[in-house]
Amino acid sequence: MSSDLFDRAEAVSKRAYAPYSKFQVGAAVRMRDGTVFEGVNVENAAYPLGLCAEKAALAHAIAAGYGPGQLEELAVTASPCGGCRQWLVELGVERIVYRNVAGELVTTTPAELLPDTFEL
Ligand code: THU
Repeated sequence: MSSDLFDRAEAVSKRAYAPYSKFQVGAAVRMRDGTVFEGVNVENAAYPLGLCAEKAALAHAIAAGYGPGQLEELAVTASPCGGCRQWLVELGVERIVYRNVAGELVTTTPAELLPDTFEL
C-alpha cells in the first residue's frame, strides 16, 4: 500500500515546476476511502511564493471535501519541510512515507515529525 502511494508521488514529481531549485518534489495523499490526490512543488520567480508538493496535494483533498480524520497516508519524495510538517499535524494525516537524504523510505507520523505542537 505505502509503496504504491510512494510510486504515485515519484511519478507525479516529474511534473513539478521547479526551474529555480531544480528540486522536483511529488506527493500523493490517500483518503480512508481509497481516493488519492497528487501534488507537486510549484516555484515562482518571487521565491517565497513557491508552493510545496505536500501542500498542493493536501489542498486538493480539502477542495474535494475531505478533512481531518479522513487522510490516512501521505507519501512524498523528500523529507517534509518545517511548514509542511505543521500542515500534516493540522490535517491529522495518520501516516507519512518519505524518502530521506540517504535515499531510504521512512514511515512516520506527524507527531514524530513535529513534536510538542501548540494548541489554540
Ligand atoms: N519542497 C517541497 O515541495 N516539499 C518539501 O517538504 C521540501 C521542499 C520544494 C520547495 C522548493 O520548490 C524546492 O523543494 C526546494 O526547496
